[in-house]
Amino acid sequence: MNENNVVISNLIKKYGNFTAVNDISFSFEKGEVFGLIGPNGSGKTTTLRILSTLLQKTSGEIEIFGFYLPKDGGEVRELISYIPEDAGVYRNLTGREYLKFITGFYNKRGDAGNMTEQGIEISNLKERINDKVDTYSKGMIRRLLIARAIVTNPQLLILDEPTSGLDVVNAKQVRELIKSVSAKGVAVLLSSHNMLEVEFLCRRISLISKGTIVESGTPEELKKKHNAQNIEDVFMEVVK
Ligand SMILES: Nc1ncnc2c1ncn2[C@@H]1O[C@H](COP(=O)(O)OP(=O)(O)OP(=O)(O)O)[C@@H](O)[C@H]1O
Ligand SMILES: [Mg+2]
Repeated sequence: MNENNVVISNLIKKYGNFTAVNDISFSFEKGEVFGLIGPNGSGKTTTLRILSTLLQKTSGEIEIFGFYLPKDGGEVRELISYIPEDAGVYRNLTGREYLKFITGFYNKRGDAGNMTEQGIEISNLKERINDKVDTYSKGMIRRLLIARAIVTNPQLLILDEPTSGLDVVNAKQVRELIKSVSAKGVAVLLSSHNMLEVEFLCRRISLISKGTIVESGTPEELKKKHNAQNIEDVFMEVVK
């Protein structure tokens, strides 16, 4: 048992007869950003949803900071925040009302006001925080969601394609947010299709193809091993 590590061993997920995740193993620790990279349909979201307790594994072992899934689902849910790729928000609320609702829900000790203010600051939405979420751009919604995830003080933050569909400025803001939470000792697991992002953010990555991990290591190690200029070239070589 290790309270600082997330350890996935021989994880398998079948949907009926189809094996979406086929015997994958990886581990990472608090303070580390770990990236799952792979083509469409390779099993990234499936893996993230299993770790988020939303989906049951078929077999394998999942240890999150000394807790095991599915047995310790309740404990694990207290320690994690998960932002799905297509995460929605209550569009009729303002950004402020949304954060207030969420932090009130999470915070049992009655410090929700302070948490809401922190969330507002993290979101960097400034005066737009008082506008209805309905009027926000995709980037603003993503920042609100990430602020919401961070402010609840998770020990593991799980992000499915956190910057997909965002412009350069919004994507950069989201990446900086992710860096700053990981620097505070939070473990971050993300999926991404953006190789530059992965190099910027992740200490280590696994490349996944058709449900199987085909390569793992630090971006530097992988580039060296494949004599490649960048992770995109590594990807092209190993994901056929
Ligand atoms: N509920 C489901 N029932 C049956 N098959 C599913 C289900 N969810 C996902 N799959 C299949 O499992 C495989 C992996 O899907 P998954 O969503 O995990 O891929 P992904 O790596 O996240 O892809 P993308 O990059 O497109 O988001 C795909 O072939 C998908 O069609
Ligand atoms: Mg996906």
